[in-house]
Amino acid sequence: MKNLKIKEKINKKIPDHIAIIMDGNGRWAEKQGKIRAFGHKAGFEKVKEIIKFSVHNNIKVLTLYTFSSENWKRPKSEVLSLLELFSFALKNEIKNLNKYNICLKIIGDVTYFNSELQRCINYAEKITLNNSGLILNIAANYGGKWDIVEGVKKIVSAVQDGYLNIHQIEEKIFSQYLCTNSLLPVDLVIRTGGEKRISNFLLWQIAYSELYFTDVLWPDFDQFILQDAINDFSIRKRRFGGIIKD
Ligand code: IPE
Ligand code: IPE
Ligand code: MG
Repeated sequence: MKNLKIKEKINKKIPDHIAIIMDGNGRWAEKQGKIRAFGHKAGFEKVKEIIKFSVHNNIKVLTLYTFSSENWKRPKSEVLSLLELFSFALKNEIKNLNKYNICLKIIGDVTYFNSELQRCINYAEKITLNNSGLILNIAANYGGKWDIVEGVKKIVSAVQDGYLNIHQIEEKIFSQYLCTNSLLPVDLVIRTGGEKRISNFLLWQIAYSELYFTDVLWPDFDQFILQDAINDFSIRKRRFGGIIKD
């Protein structure tokens, strides 16, 4: 793959943290008369392309939605194919994660996964822990509401155990109890596949994110479309409730 670098533009603002809802794999496969798992496999190839692009363009954090806490509602065979693909990716991509200096973090309730998959997750996280390049969050069995509820539980127990005083609880502290911890806030959320909704992805973390929706199905997404999204982001005026004078 060619290492495409974003062309420098005057005043170009590159997002530090990009989060992507990678939607449309199933429809992409069905359009070709193939089973949905075929679309998920093709989608995985695009995940690799987008990670490489992010590394080459010094994006600091990339958060990818791979499996929502609601996706268990799908037929068993599809869930199984997604979990197998996840396991395959973890086992086969560790070398590349280290080669590209990527720090991997799985966010979501991993206790639902079988012990073999949990072992792969722990190993991949441990082996990439000290990498100082791109922080790659993979949201697996993730739900934004779950994340907030878990945060509340952790805060309550910190108060009960005397580590935290109730008066210390403010937004910044609360953020630290979420899966994304003290990471940079999400600058840009991209959703492929045509739907214009968040589907229980990051909720707290996207309070002031810029949103970018495209009809392109995830397996047809590529680095050029990501560059378009970044270009679009770079000319947006982020006011955060304030006023910007031109
Ligand atoms: C996104 O693609 C991947 C996951 C949700 C796991 P979909 O599987 O939702 O594809 P569509 O939206 O049905 O086309
Ligand atoms: C969101 O896509 C979850 C992922 C991309 C992993 P879905 O396909 O599950 O979302 P809905 O059901 O259309 O809202
Ligand atoms: Mg979908």
